Amino acid sequence: MPPRVALVTGANSGIGFAISKALTAVKDEFTVIMTGRTLAKVESARKEIEVGDLAVAQLDTTDELSIANCVSFVQEEFGRLDVLINNAGVAPEGPDLGNIYRTTLTTNVIGPALVSAAFRPLLLKSSNPYSVYISSMTGSLGLISDPKSYMRITGAGSPAYRASKAALNMVILHEQLEVASTNLKIFALCPGFVVSNLRGTSKEAREAGGRAGDPAESASAVLSILHGERDADAQKMIHKDGTHPW
Ligand SMILES: NC(=O)c1ccc[n+]([C@@H]2O[C@H](COP(=O)([O-])OP(=O)(O)OC[C@H]3O[C@@H](n4cnc5c(N)ncnc54)[C@H](OP(=O)(O)O)[C@@H]3O)[C@@H](O)[C@H]2O)c1
Repeated sequence: MPPRVALVTGANSGIGFAISKALTAVKDEFTVIMTGRTLAKVESARKEIEVGDLAVAQLDTTDELSIANCVSFVQEEFGRLDVLINNAGVAPEGPDLGNIYRTTLTTNVIGPALVSAAFRPLLLKSSNPYSVYISSMTGSLGLISDPKSYMRITGAGSPAYRASKAALNMVILHEQLEVASTNLKIFALCPGFVVSNLRGTSKEAREAGGRAGDPAESASAVLSILHGERDADAQKMIHKDGTHPW
């Protein structure tokens, strides 16, 4: 069997990097295309992984020309895509509410929607295509509206961030309907609260004072999806140990 071609957005840090590393570590199974908005950062991340079947490409998920160029690259190099990991995301904070909402929704909702639409023809050329979105339980309407839920709090991400993940969940559910007659499997994964640059680049922010877990565990959950072990959970938001309500 030829390796499965897997593309990861935002692969230069945090969860995207951990996913790229984990996929690369599975012997002979994946060719990983690490992408990011700044090519130099992705190239340096690729060097950190060192071994494995890895390609790099520039992909700013908010820039339609960049998306189109990346689709052309994958078409020319591989002729198909077997796995799309829509991982890139942001969680900006600050006093400029309008700007925070625009940046967050543009990156966390419009970006993945555009990326998925652009890569769908290549995914549909695969014999076993998977599309995995990195969402978040902080966007769960089911949890925030449950009086007994520990997610019914402020401070679990900005309202813009939580709204963006709720909207992303609708994009995912809608896409599941759109492709229902095809072999494309679409999943939403909550990666857990893990070390990354999402909350800032200082040690304290990255590790959330020691509370954040290991992004390698998020990557393991992605692998379990790609190995077909979570197919029964496709109608829910998956986390490593179970599911969350939408
Ligand atoms: N960490 C957590 O606890 C947690 C929990 C739930 C969900 N998530 C989700 O996990 C995903 C990955 O985040 P992370 O925690 O790994 O944070 P991270 O370390 O900040 O990684 C985010 C990645 O997305 C990239 N990115 C941002 N905007 C982009 C754009 N327009 N085009 C392409 N790439 C872009 C970043 O690139 P630059 O390096 O250039 O900024 C970076 O590579 C996000 O969707 C986030 O919402 C994280």
